[in-house]
Amino acid sequence: MAKAKMRLGVNIDHVATLRNARNGKYPDILKTARLLKKTNVDSITVHLREDRRHIKDEDLFNLKENNYLPLNLEMAATEEMQEICLKVLPFACCIVPEKREELTTEGGLDVIKNSKKLRKLVSTLISKGIRVSLFVDPCQHQIRESQKIGTNAVEIHTGQYADAFEADKNFKHELKKIKIAAELAFKLGLECHAGHGLNFKNVLNITRIEEITELNIGHFIISQSIFDGLEMTVKKFKNILSK
Ligand code: PXP
Repeated sequence: MAKAKMRLGVNIDHVATLRNARNGKYPDILKTARLLKKTNVDSITVHLREDRRHIKDEDLFNLKENNYLPLNLEMAATEEMQEICLKVLPFACCIVPEKREELTTEGGLDVIKNSKKLRKLVSTLISKGIRVSLFVDPCQHQIRESQKIGTNAVEIHTGQYADAFEADKNFKHELKKIKIAAELAFKLGLECHAGHGLNFKNVLNITRIEEITELNIGHFIISQSIFDGLEMTVKKFKNILSK
């Protein structure tokens, strides 16, 4: 199989986290989206959480209205989120499990246990032209069930691989699980995406998995921008002070 270009979606939740730290408008979400458009990324991802800890409803509607880049909405499978998604009509929707007390999405969906509810949600969203993906662990049973309930895509949770890589543990075992899951998704006719905990180093192994066509990356890209931008910002500030 010829390797297709890997699409990159940038998750900008943590721009909103910084903004909300001061309850103001800075840093601005739409300005971030405009900048990302210039960098030629393929899409923007935001997670509207039940507790609205970062992205707010207003951000979602503003991003859709300005339409700088295709919008991928991450959300839990709840009636409230379905209603919002059907109002916004994003390009794509990634359904994720959500626990109020977690710091970030901790694991994949249990598609088998929740198949009835998910099947209904998936078919409602697809009928409105939204590309739907299910965020799942690299588990063959979950991938098979995802295909059965009619989703367009799966996004494989790479968090355990990223943790093992970071801890210098046996990440090859985790990587193998991702590879097997991606091959199965492809064989079943599903688009295969991946994300969570990816960075400059650990992403290289993932890019070698031909079946994965899209990555969604947030925390590292926003954090790394500090190291790539801090020096320039301080220089600009010192320049102002010297005048
Ligand atoms: N994909 C999904 C479904 C997620 O929930 C997240 C975290 O919001 C990501 C990708 C991005 O993970 P990270 O912020 O660790 O890059």
